[in-house]
Amino acid sequence: MSLQKMTAKKIIEKKQKGQKIITITSYDYSMAKIVDECDFDLILVGDSLSMVVLGYKNTLSVTMDEMIHHTKAVSRAVSNAMVVGDMPFLSYKIDLKEAVKNAGRFIQEGGAEAVKVEGGTEICPTIRAMIDADIQVMGHIGLTPQAIYQFGGFMVQGKTIEAAQKLILDAKNLENEGAFSIVLESIPWQVAKLITNSLDIPTIGIGAGKYCDGQIIVINDMLGIFTDFKPKFLKYFGDIGGNIRKALKDYKNEVETVLYPDRDHSYEFPDEDFNTLNEWFESIDLEKEALKIKK
Ligand code: KIV
Repeated sequence: MSLQKMTAKKIIEKKQKGQKIITITSYDYSMAKIVDECDFDLILVGDSLSMVVLGYKNTLSVTMDEMIHHTKAVSRAVSNAMVVGDMPFLSYKIDLKEAVKNAGRFIQEGGAEAVKVEGGTEICPTIRAMIDADIQVMGHIGLTPQAIYQFGGFMVQGKTIEAAQKLILDAKNLENEGAFSIVLESIPWQVAKLITNSLDIPTIGIGAGKYCDGQIIVINDMLGIFTDFKPKFLKYFGDIGGNIRKALKDYKNEVETVLYPDRDHSYEFPDEDFNTLNEWFESIDLEKEALKIKK
């Protein structure tokens, strides 16, 4: 482990010091390496992988094996940020043993330092079992995308007094159970502020306003690479999709017009030997000569 590697303890300390916690998702080696160079606190290998990388219509389709495969790629790239693996649908809600075993795979095979699970008070026994097995856990409440069919879609949560009260109590129970941080997704900023002020562990918001202790965002969304839909909270911080399209058109055009590859992008045969090679080439019967080296 590198000396400067971010840890759950350091992330909690950032809240105590009033410093914002900067987090984002990543799914592959090259992107995670760029993120890590930019000094982020935490990289989540989110189950958003299902939609933004694998093209499924929601997050319910991605499997444990796919999540581990991508977590490994991210872990290989990262030496500063804390890496968290997102437990996919059904990998932690069937029984406790299965949940701990699957969480352990993120650590042992994936190289992550913690896992994230979606759910409120009902998931406390699972969090406890994971922590008892020395696995650090990040919670996730509000719009938990694995429950979209229960919610009836990607809807903002916590908009009634009862729903907001439930979120506030859920967050406290997750903290008491030992979660080191909690993602708050798509809830009114006032509710997120109350939750943030009521906890010692940090809240990490996505669509939960500016009072959260940190923010997370899906990297393919914020870079304008995944544009299938745009929730209200999403801000494009770049147009990488546009840049990719332009680069691809330029490449296509240069290949068609034989501008690429030019001499600067080609390998040279030594000039002094080329005449000899050419004379040999012109002197042989290519079919016969090729047969000679065939066994
Ligand atoms: O899967 C994901 O990317 C997430 C974040 C949006 C928190 O769960």
